[in-house]
Amino acid sequence: MDIGGSGIKGCLVDLEIGQLIGERLRIETPQPSLPDPVYGVVAKIVESFGWSGRIGVTFPGVMKHGVAHTAANVDKSWIGTDVDAGLEQLIPGSVVTLNDADAAGIAEMRYGAGRDQGGVVLMLTFGTGIGSALFVDGHLVPNTEFGHIQVDGEDGERRASAAAREREDLDYPTWAHRVDRYLDVLEAGLWPDLIIVGGGVSKKAAKWVPLLTTRTPVVPAQLQNDAGIVGAALAAHERDN
Ligand code: BGC
Repeated sequence: MDIGGSGIKGCLVDLEIGQLIGERLRIETPQPSLPDPVYGVVAKIVESFGWSGRIGVTFPGVMKHGVAHTAANVDKSWIGTDVDAGLEQLIPGSVVTLNDADAAGIAEMRYGAGRDQGGVVLMLTFGTGIGSALFVDGHLVPNTEFGHIQVDGEDGERRASAAAREREDLDYPTWAHRVDRYLDVLEAGLWPDLIIVGGGVSKKAAKWVPLLTTRTPVVPAQLQNDAGIVGAALAAHERDN
């Protein structure tokens, strides 16, 4: 399951190949995006697949031990909420929650652009915000929040997310320049070996990735829209308890 600010999506996943099995189901995120109505939608989607096992769920904020700690682009009432416990009251199986970009990153590292990549790999998702997932020799450092590093006195995602491009009606070269500046600041602090760029805008990678002047190689994500769901399923499958 992938909980986003505009849509909640779910599907069964074939973890041998990292692909969705059949069609995913997407339902608009209730507005305001309060926990209880969102849980209701998640439960409905799980039920539609007749699934009673463990589920993986992504959330667009810091998730630690089932509890949401931030909510930059969803209702603030999520902060401090035990999402695992809330969902487990409504569905038959148990729940594993994780940050949305971490989920997308896990999927990319296993099945996509990060396959067999050692060293320091940084996955960034450009959407309403900017999500980040950091890997060291394939191991995730969870809950990095690089969308919120300060760039020229502003939250990085405020200037360089895909939503900023749309909101300000920027052409790709202008927006690429902002992304470049954002990546400069990240590179100065991290020195990654590879940067993977994901989110819907990675489908248009040819329009902006070649304009970047980073010293680190930048490649588009390969799983695109499905990465969050696939990564959530993988996390649920690999959780030990
Ligand atoms: C949130 C992150 C999230 C990203 C993408 C940011 O605003 O702070 O936790 O991964 O948006 O949804």
